[in-house]
Amino acid sequence: MKKLWSLRACLPVALMATFLSVLVGCGGGTGGNSEANGKPGIPHKQFADAVHAVMMADRTVYAQHVVDRLKAQESVVKPDEYWHDEDGTIPLPAQMFRMGAELVSENEEAGFSYSLKSKWPLNEQNKANSDLEVAGLDYVTANPEENFYGEEELAGVNYYTAVYADVAVAGACSNCHNSHANRGDDYPEFKTGDVMGGVIIRIPMR
Ligand code: HEC
Repeated sequence: MKKLWSLRACLPVALMATFLSVLVGCGGGTGGNSEANGKPGIPHKQFADAVHAVMMADRTVYAQHVVDRLKAQESVVKPDEYWHDEDGTIPLPAQMFRMGAELVSENEEAGFSYSLKSKWPLNEQNKANSDLEVAGLDYVTANPEENFYGEEELAGVNYYTAVYADVAVAGACSNCHNSHANRGDDYPEFKTGDVMGGVIIRIPMR
């Protein structure tokens, strides 16, 4: 059972305390709902959960059945950050994910955006850049079984934002990250099953 969390309800507590134990104790709230303003549609939470399920299915299939499989077969084709420039390489799972996210952000019909971020980013571009993203990544890292839902205002627009744990679903995930040159001094020693970051889904509330 996923837990609902409302940033609005928790904001005073979150501002007062940086400790996760306090954030975790602050449950309740259902977040946004497109029906609330009289327009028919899918509630924001349900929409975010559904598109997240599809994203994760694709991500897991790519990591387990393409990346891990090539490795198990000792294939000459390898996932590589620099796949654009090198023959015999394919994109990393995170790069696959980001290319999809870029196509969705260019599509005006899509009505939402998404990204993959972490408290320990190998690429600086993937670090949290709003208070809600920081709180959400902290929350899902401490509570991998739960999601984080909230509302935020960015550049005058209100968003319903959901954060989901991104877990090392395949051995390749932790192996590659743990040995990457960009890892900082405080970088965790990831293993399969660990939360490595979070998927952030953002829906403008109109
Ligand atoms: C072969 C190396 C490699 C593999 C395999 C790999 N990653 Fe990454 N991952 C990277 C690199 C490099 C980046 C930064 C990519 C970018 O955005 O430029 C990254 C980015 C990420 C990010 C965004 C935060 C960051 O570190 O920049 C997350 C979260 C993440 N990976 C989780 C995973 C998970 C979970 C898996 C397995 C499903 C996985 N990675 C597999 C190398 C790898």
